[in-house]
Amino acid sequence: MVAPLPLPTPKITAPSQLPADPGVLVILSAQSEPSSEGAVSGAQIDASVRAELSAALCATLDRLIESGEIEGKRGEVQCLATADGEFPLLVVAGVGKPSDATRGGTYDIAATVIRRLADKPRSQVTFLVGETTVAANHDALVAGAVSACEGQHLYQSEPATHVPDAIAFVGVSAEAAAAGENLGGSINHTRRLVNEPPTIMNPTEFADRAAAMAATEGLQCEIWDEKRLAAENCRAILAVGRASTSPPRLVILKHNGGGDEAPLAIVGKGVTFDSGGLSLKPSDGMVDMKCDMAGAATVVGVMRAIAKLGIRRNVIGLCGLAENMVSGDAYKLGDVIETRSGKTIEIRNTDAEGRVVLADTLDVAVEHSPAAIVDLATLTGACMVALGNEVAGLMTNNQELCEQVSAAAEQENEPVWQLPMFSLYNEKVKSKVADIKNVGEGRWGGAITAAKFLENFVQDTPWLHIDIAGPAFADSAKASHDAGATGVMVRTLVRWIDDAAAR
Ligand code: BES
Ligand code: MN
Ligand code: ZN
Repeated sequence: MVAPLPLPTPKITAPSQLPADPGVLVILSAQSEPSSEGAVSGAQIDASVRAELSAALCATLDRLIESGEIEGKRGEVQCLATADGEFPLLVVAGVGKPSDATRGGTYDIAATVIRRLADKPRSQVTFLVGETTVAANHDALVAGAVSACEGQHLYQSEPATHVPDAIAFVGVSAEAAAAGENLGGSINHTRRLVNEPPTIMNPTEFADRAAAMAATEGLQCEIWDEKRLAAENCRAILAVGRASTSPPRLVILKHNGGGDEAPLAIVGKGVTFDSGGLSLKPSDGMVDMKCDMAGAATVVGVMRAIAKLGIRRNVIGLCGLAENMVSGDAYKLGDVIETRSGKTIEIRNTDAEGRVVLADTLDVAVEHSPAAIVDLATLTGACMVALGNEVAGLMTNNQELCEQVSAAAEQENEPVWQLPMFSLYNEKVKSKVADIKNVGEGRWGGAITAAKFLENFVQDTPWLHIDIAGPAFADSAKASHDAGATGVMVRTLVRWIDDAAAR
């Protein structure tokens, strides 16, 4: 197969002044806050930004504000020609009310602008950022711009979209620009792993790429191959991967930023292709199943980000990797597997493979005595039935942990919603021949019965399960991101870990 497009790397700079040749200039407009009498005036543009524009251009902007053409609403993007060619193009992007600004909103604004400019090759785009419009979320602005440079068109001979050669951020500190570049680059790293075709991104390739990233970023990395998995009693991971010609792997990444404190563990489902196994999926359900390693790819992206950002916390990332295929040697319905933990599981559907892989992966995580475990998995279609395809489901044994991650997700505008873990669901995964079975009773509450299965493997560690089956992979493009892999939850987890370092 031909080589994919290289990961886009626009040159990111944070000059203190408007460069002599700024190329396309991007400025921000805000909706004004209602006055004490409730009156609302037109859109606002920071005085420091106006000071860089000619009087004629400011007058044009004022006319557009007066006529209501520029309202400053979040998501509004106007591309304007300047009369005397002051700038090749002036883009005015609305940020909404400054008091409503969130990191996630700011990220989306920059991403939307860069995607709007992606129709043509451009040598330079310059964001001129004033003091008030996007508050202190400058790194989120940069991250959004960088994220918009990656799409799913990896193997198009004539790429449909273009990445600017350079993006400058005037009014943003060098530290914020570097932090944003790291975060955006890490989201793209995750998305790239997911968007690659499944025959390329098999368990060994995934593990090799994780190891390469770890070497570059100075993370410790251990890879368990099939022999080591057998020696470690990871019989559940091996069962799921047995029908594949690409053997399973387990990747352990370590970031040591916090001395001798207990680490946080993040665990990802890495089923590099989910055919369903003998409980074979129909084509429609299988067509996007290269995305079934998105949880593991998220773990790799988060580990990359926290290494690059130098976050002062110990974090372990674990990826359970297997390909769920069909062969004469496939694991079967009715099989009983003794997992690494010693608990036995009855296989009643080989398409409920993610929880089987995670059973052993979570057990390895527990062995590191983490302060908390967060797992990410494209685990159930049922979670999409419950919450739709843009919202991740949260299930936990520890409400405080769940609230910490929810708060981080809210800041980043990554929608999440908690589902209950009542003990009445425990009954539904009990087996008559083994300790538990890998499906609930019928389809009802399928996201929760899957989480109940997982809960058996975390002992009493505070644990949060994030089902990203819906938001990990988008059917259609949006203003702020392409279709395909989204990199969802990278930002949320980086924020959570960063906040944990401050706690
Ligand atoms: N990988 C799928 C879940 C999935 C579905 C992810 C759609 C992304 C989009 C998972 O392995 C699966 O097949 N789950 C089954 C479980 C069932 C057999 C209990 C499902 O959801 O149908
Ligand atoms: Mn499946
Ligand atoms: Zn799956």
